[in-house]
Amino acid sequence: MKIGIFTDAHYSSREVSCGCRYNNLSLRKTREAYEFFTVKGCDAVIFLGDLTDTEESHAKELANLREICALINSYPLPTYCLMGNHDAFVFDKDEFYAVTGFPAPELVRADGANLLFLDACFFTNGRHYAPGDDDWTDTFLPNACELEKRLAELDGDTYIFIHQNIDPAVHESHRLSNWREVFDIIKNSGKVKAVYQGHYHGGCTSEYDGIKYVTLPAMCERERAYFTFEV
Ligand SMILES: [Fe+2]
Ligand SMILES: [Fe+2]
Repeated sequence: MKIGIFTDAHYSSREVSCGCRYNNLSLRKTREAYEFFTVKGCDAVIFLGDLTDTEESHAKELANLREICALINSYPLPTYCLMGNHDAFVFDKDEFYAVTGFPAPELVRADGANLLFLDACFFTNGRHYAPGDDDWTDTFLPNACELEKRLAELDGDTYIFIHQNIDPAVHESHRLSNWREVFDIIKNSGKVKAVYQGHYHGGCTSEYDGIKYVTLPAMCERERAYFTFEV
């Protein structure tokens, strides 16, 4: 199975934010990404979160989400889309997935492999991010023991997808507060081949005990920040 993957579009009407995020170019770049995935013969697409960014009104934020999802849904490729902190600080999770038209991804079987999607848009106190929140440095995967159980039950190679970072090579402000526990669970499972992450816009690639940690560079900061891989 061939998969197209990209992250951190941060689509909004702004020309630039934070000095380096070219928000309003992401619609054009998303179209280019889907054209690329189509030419490459991808079977599915994964987006790792931060699809949209804040506007002055929620009506405009909703319009942006509808616009970029209409583009994505105009291609006949199934898309598995995680929420990032920027999405979760603007949209309630149910509202987000109702507008996107994609279900919240959890576990997908792909040619005998498992694609496991994790939502770490939680504060360390266990509360999910909600509209109006803004502390992106507090990120946490609740019920890590559930992940351990889940991995034990799965057969076959497993690939993990998460917006925030587990890789210790990424600055700790971007990492889960319980990254060490999650890192050890992944390592000890003996089943995980790779972990794909977004959130850290510069991107980073590491490998520990044969497990690849790939942090994709952000679409909003670069041209051609879209990739394919096979499982
Ligand atoms: Fe981002
Ligand atoms: Fe993020």
